[in-house]
Amino acid sequence: MTTPGKFITLEGVDGAGKSTHVGYVADWLRQQGREVIVTREPGGTPLGEKLRELLLHRDMDADTELLLMFAARQEHLAALIRPALARGAWVVSDRFTDASYAYQCGGRGIETTRIAALEAWVQRGFQPDLTLLFDVPPEVAEARRSAARTADRFEREADNFFSRVRAAYLERAQAEPARIRVLDARHSIAELQLVISRLLQDLM
Ligand code: TYD
Repeated sequence: MTTPGKFITLEGVDGAGKSTHVGYVADWLRQQGREVIVTREPGGTPLGEKLRELLLHRDMDADTELLLMFAARQEHLAALIRPALARGAWVVSDRFTDASYAYQCGGRGIETTRIAALEAWVQRGFQPDLTLLFDVPPEVAEARRSAARTADRFEREADNFFSRVRAAYLERAQAEPARIRVLDARHSIAELQLVISRLLQDLM
């Protein structure tokens, strides 16, 4: 019988540097002989990537944004994540539902209960096995954002938006310390990789 794979998500405010570490997590797991699927949210499926285009570049009402995030997530779970885990693959996703709590709830101010209702509908109790939260002070994230390429709709938000997003992420980590591991993303890439490899080792 195949053992189901595990689901790992990476989170953090724009500019925390999480995307750098997605490849490291995948390579580390592949070296242990696992089949690994790397994906992202919003996106990860042909339909999800179309929704991502709209979400990142088209102005819309905050509730529309939230609903589209979860529509993309439903498709992602049904078409990619659940089948991959069922056949024993490990899935590494650049963002998942913690981002909805951080951005749509913390950032945009939507009530937590609305997100929790959508989460229950779409996930039916399913949760990541491990979430790496890359945390940096707002000014560091801001400096990294402005050094990066053209900003999308989220990256153009004001600094206090990202302070709220960060606070919401940290609140979630406090509520679920076993799943959500906070990494100080001011550390060097090598130092972070060492911590990440230890966390992955524990998960094996
Ligand atoms: P991001 O992951 O930062 O990709 P890139 O590194 O290419 O910019 O972009 C996704 C954006 O979507 C990010 O600004 C956060 C936002 N987002 C939400 O607001 N809610 C969500 O539920 C998810 C998954 C993402």
